[in-house]
Amino acid sequence: MEVAAGALSPVLRKLGELLAGEYNLEKRVKKGVQSLLIELEMMHAILRKVSEVPSDQLEEPVRIWAGKVRDLSCDMEDAVDDFLVRVDEGSSRKPTNMRNRVNKFLKKTTKLFGKGKALHQICDAIEEAQDLAKQLADLRKRYELDMHSSSNGATIDPRVLALHKDVGELVGVDYTRDELIKTLICEDGSSKEQLKTIPIVGVGGLGKTTLTKAVYEKIKAQFDCVAFVSVGQNPDIKKVFKDLLYGLDNGKFSDIHNTTRDENLLIKQISDYLVDKRYLIVIDDIWEEEIWRFINCALYKNDLHSRVITTTRNVCVSEACLSSSDDMIHQMKPLSDEDSQILFHRRIFQSEEKCPEDLQAVSREILKKCGGVPLAIITIASLLVSNQRIKQKEEWLHVHSSMGRGVTEGGIVKDMKRILSLSYYDLPSHLKPCLLYLSMFPEDSEIKRDWLIWRWLSEGFIQCDKEETRLFEIGESYYNELLNRSLIQPSKINEEGTVKISQVITS
Ligand SMILES: Nc1ncnc2c1ncn2[C@@H]1O[C@H](COP(=O)(O)OP(=O)(O)OP(=O)(O)O)[C@@H](O)[C@H]1O
Ligand SMILES: [Mg+2]
Repeated sequence: MEVAAGALSPVLRKLGELLAGEYNLEKRVKKGVQSLLIELEMMHAILRKVSEVPSDQLEEPVRIWAGKVRDLSCDMEDAVDDFLVRVDEGSSRKPTNMRNRVNKFLKKTTKLFGKGKALHQICDAIEEAQDLAKQLADLRKRYELDMHSSSNGATIDPRVLALHKDVGELVGVDYTRDELIKTLICEDGSSKEQLKTIPIVGVGGLGKTTLTKAVYEKIKAQFDCVAFVSVGQNPDIKKVFKDLLYGLDNGKFSDIHNTTRDENLLIKQISDYLVDKRYLIVIDDIWEEEIWRFINCALYKNDLHSRVITTTRNVCVSEACLSSSDDMIHQMKPLSDEDSQILFHRRIFQSEEKCPEDLQAVSREILKKCGGVPLAIITIASLLVSNQRIKQKEEWLHVHSSMGRGVTEGGIVKDMKRILSLSYYDLPSHLKPCLLYLSMFPEDSEIKRDWLIWRWLSEGFIQCDKEETRLFEIGESYYNELLNRSLIQPSKINEEGTVKISQVITS
């Protein structure tokens, strides 16, 4: 679906060019292009909606329909490209010596002939496309395809499990947890009384929630009241407020979820409750600055040594969470090679020392691909054990070679994909094709930033209604947005400030 929506925008632009250009299109053909444009624009609007829904939540007919629209747009784009290339061919000027003049005459004749032929072909292509577009529009109506999620919203977020993890199973969190606590409690000497917020930021599955929970559990006894609230994508803000009240005092607010209150009242209720209390509040998994601003209104800024921790995948959101000059963002780091290995081997062999010699090399290679992301390490480990039996070396090699290619399907891999794809579905539609474009490159390849932006430009992924000259700058802002959302990661910055991409998350 996502590809379908991305594939349509270049063809819309090109059909627009066809209409605007001096191509002597017959009236009938122009009309055809116009009606095709309208039909495709409608389809584009629908596909944009479809691309906001994870594909596993879409009805099968919707998936088929979107695939057909994509094929139609690709065929149409090929036909228009073909036409434009033929018609524009040979238009460069050269000095007029005799030889060139003869050449020019020959070219002109061929061009005239070519143009007639090209015109004929484009007319046929447009007629065919018009028919197909009509059929697709009818199909959509006939089956009343529901472009929204087919699930009843009953899917459970697999990340809930991270909240209930046994601390004993965690690896490498102690040091980071204690450092974070030191900063939070202000052992560095900064003002203790003032409300302090620590935003934790990092890519999906890196362990933000897990670390925050560990901090929360260790220090919660020091506060008058505490709450740990998950926000998530597309939250119901009233429910978030009610969860917060319930978490703060489940006796006083035991019935809060059964009451009807508007946001204002809930904000006031929370604020009034917090006014004279030393509180510790975790707001986990925030996706939008706007949501944070709402929640922040409710957090009364007292001078009682209250503390707030937020987590997010988005750098801009983490910056918005900073409330005073003492606040600092905590950038979540991947697990070290050593901790990655401990986690991996503990999961498979129940102990980090029991990895047989012949599996050690492949185990290191697998871990390299996991990049220190605990979610990836745990997921892959679970593929290597079945019915409490450790799989053979060949299967390890197979898992290693299929990593990153999405070949290894299974419940837990699906969960991991679902978790990571949340970032993808949160992207605005113009960034989706840009990210998908990266999946063409081999895993771990380094791609130069400027080169990538030019590629996006030539594919027609960069959209701008105003001056053409600013397109590259817009491309840079697309690039920065993907970086900001931790979907691409720069490997190094060279002297010209060019960034290379080493790791791309395209689940
Ligand atoms: N240090 C660790 N040791 C062992 N397991 C870990 C560790 N950190 C995280 N995990 C496990 O990795 C998975 C992902 O962790 P978690 O949900 O905390 O990531 P996250 O950064 O909050 O992801 P998201 O952006 O999706 O909210 C969970 O199953 C969690 O239990
Ligand atoms: Mg989380």
